[in-house]
Amino acid sequence: MTALPATKAGDLLEGRAMGLGNRFLITALLFGTMGMALGLAMGASHDFTLMPVHAHLNLLGYVGMFIAGLYYRTAPEAAESRMAEVHYWANAVGVVMLTGPLAGLLLGGAPQLGLLVLGGGVILISSMMLFILIIAMSVLRSPGVTIVPAE
Ligand code: HEM
Repeated sequence: MTALPATKAGDLLEGRAMGLGNRFLITALLFGTMGMALGLAMGASHDFTLMPVHAHLNLLGYVGMFIAGLYYRTAPEAAESRMAEVHYWANAVGVVMLTGPLAGLLLGGAPQLGLLVLGGGVILISSMMLFILIIAMSVLRSPGVTIVPAE
């Protein structure tokens, strides 16, 4: 049996061992599972207090990150930039920072949690701006896709 090459923890963090696109997809699936589990719990208990958390986990965490993952898999050159790495972390941290404190706030926690929610929102908008820039630069570098028919 051929042994796989050893992977350093630093390689994983820098996304060298796993493509950035795949990392976006896996994180999206994790957020999606959490969001759906929350939806299931809300339905079963008839307690919809955390509905905004459910909606944001599913839409920002699952749908948004899954779409970004698919994009980076179709445009691997865009995934290689430092900006794309920052995009991943801003998106993932932003979702956690928005939804966690939002849950606390909705469950009657300290009003100061609102500041964290706001911070999460600002990080998420910044990550979106970065994504726009990454796509714009990628389009400028190679504006068209040539489809070659199979032989
Ligand atoms: C196992 C999967 C899911 C379950 C069990 C579930 C369950 C629920 C429940 C019980 C509600 C509250 C509905 C009400 O007010 O009567 C809700 C609302 C919502 N869900 Fe889900 N959901 C699931 C998946 C998703 C996904 C994948 C998304 C988005 C991609 C999503 C987005 C939303 C949104 C935006 C609302 C708020 C709707 C509104 O304000 O009227 N859900 N969900």
